[in-house]
Amino acid sequence: MCGIVGYVGKRTAQDVLLNGLKRLEYRGYDSAGIATLDDEDNPHLARSVGKISDLEQVISEKPHTGHMGIGHTRWATHGGVTVSNAHPHNVGNIFLVHNGIIENYKELKAKLSNYDFRSDTDTEVLAALIDSNYKGDVSLKDAVAKSLKDVRGTYGIAVFSPKEPGTIVAARLGSPLIIGLGHDETIIASDASALLGYTREAIYLNDGELAVCNSNGSEVFNLNLKHLNSHPEEIEGNLEQIQKGGYDHFLLKEIMEQATTLPNTLSGRIDVENGKMHLGGPNLTAEEMRNIHHVVIVGCGTAYYAGLLASYYMEQLIPDVTTEVVIASEYRYRSFHLPKDSVALIVSQSGETADTLACLREIKKRGVKTLGIVNVVGSTIAREVNGGTYVHAGPEISVASTKAFTAQVVTMLMFAGMIAEYHGGNPDLIHSFTRELSILPAEIEKTLNDHRSEIEQLAKKYASFDDALYLGRDTAYPIALEGALKLKEISYIHAEGYASGELKHGPIALIDDRFFEVFTILDNWLFDKSIGGLHEVRARGGKVIVLTNSTADIEADDIVRINSNVKLLAPILINTLQQLFAYYVAVERGNDVDQPRNLAKSVTVE
Ligand code: M6R
Repeated sequence: MCGIVGYVGKRTAQDVLLNGLKRLEYRGYDSAGIATLDDEDNPHLARSVGKISDLEQVISEKPHTGHMGIGHTRWATHGGVTVSNAHPHNVGNIFLVHNGIIENYKELKAKLSNYDFRSDTDTEVLAALIDSNYKGDVSLKDAVAKSLKDVRGTYGIAVFSPKEPGTIVAARLGSPLIIGLGHDETIIASDASALLGYTREAIYLNDGELAVCNSNGSEVFNLNLKHLNSHPEEIEGNLEQIQKGGYDHFLLKEIMEQATTLPNTLSGRIDVENGKMHLGGPNLTAEEMRNIHHVVIVGCGTAYYAGLLASYYMEQLIPDVTTEVVIASEYRYRSFHLPKDSVALIVSQSGETADTLACLREIKKRGVKTLGIVNVVGSTIAREVNGGTYVHAGPEISVASTKAFTAQVVTMLMFAGMIAEYHGGNPDLIHSFTRELSILPAEIEKTLNDHRSEIEQLAKKYASFDDALYLGRDTAYPIALEGALKLKEISYIHAEGYASGELKHGPIALIDDRFFEVFTILDNWLFDKSIGGLHEVRARGGKVIVLTNSTADIEADDIVRINSNVKLLAPILINTLQQLFAYYVAVERGNDVDQPRNLAKSVTVE
């Protein structure tokens, strides 16, 4: 969602801020702005609605010259998309950017009646509150700390004042902030990608911490202003990973690179010869693994669907373990009970999703062990879980999640394979999964290359439809849900995923000229039943694309047949084709593929 960049150092702040904001564009935003202090200590503010290019246009009329400043990309929560609601906000001597939500802003605003508010935002109220406390000899650090004690809600903030040139105060509660430490320069950002190319050393602020930053580095305090020891860590990733690498869109790059990122997910974790899987991160003793009898998988959106597919595999590998998959936004408010012999897998690409994080905290309160299945290294979920495994998909920039899905499913599958050994799991089955995992990257590459142009043609054929139904059963069911999500979020075609066994219970009534159907039919023990569902749809005039790994005769309007040596993992392969299909439909419809309307990459508020 919103993004923060702050800079103090030797470079022209405007350039670093704009460059950083561009790196954060993928998170989703609707307006942007920067505030800088020039070398005569005069502040300059520029804001605009729309893209960073619109902001650049505004700035080009009057470039900023100073060496410190703050910048922001805003995803509207309080108040519409207007220049006056965009950040940074300036109140009195305070310039402030903010991610998160100040829940008691109305209460605070009522107490700040001497201020003339110019926006509808909660952030401007926070700026006024800090300004009201920033009087006489009080330092910016003290004023920020005092103000934050009166705030209810979540925040990641960066603040400066012309009264204290060279200093930026940053603080976090529930919204990430990273302080990059360079040579004679310090960069603050809500996402490590904004720091790449400037420094590899950074302090990840924890909740309740405040940092006073200048060009020589940063000192960290709690809100009682007790000095804390901070430990710089190395940031992962490189600039190449966050560039398009010759592709038209990040989404296409991320779909196509699955064959090269998946080996990182698998590296050192599978032993094909002996048919074994092992993850180090969960850090479970043999006894702890034997004691697991319940696995709850928590996630939102694509992470939830990855969990759902993984749960089918878990049931095969560890049949004595109950597996439950839950949507985080629901689960966090349910009166759920978890047996003590449970583990919770907390699945999140970004590691920052507010609902998933809230579930993690609720589950921990119940004394149940939490394990992260997370992509972004150093993210909040990764830091708060009891243990876990990074999926190592590399930076995922496009809002629609693709390579992370594949990496999440594979990581959870390896978790199940590891546990299976301690639960008397079927060694042949573990072996088969291990073997298929080892060839999966090559099979993905082959599948994508073999079918790319075919899928592109199909996308052109179906791009003008209004509605789509994705169908499948067993392991093809989670794939149907994920395929529908991918299509709807980037093409804006209304798409629903359904278990094909449910057709007669309602959705078959939908089938008419406005719809097309995408039916995944796997070559497995439910093949005949899937074909039955296909006939039901076609008998009602449905226009069906079948995605299959079967060689049997199948009647459909269009058939994409994959020829692959993986069987158990065929749904993962077929899903990569669904990703390509959604991509090409979105391109055909002329949509903003990487930043679809109304969506943010990382949903850090409820
Ligand atoms: O970062 P997370 O994996 O926690 O994000 C969860 C969902 O917000 C995310 O998967 C979302 O559904 C994507 N836009 C799907 O493509």
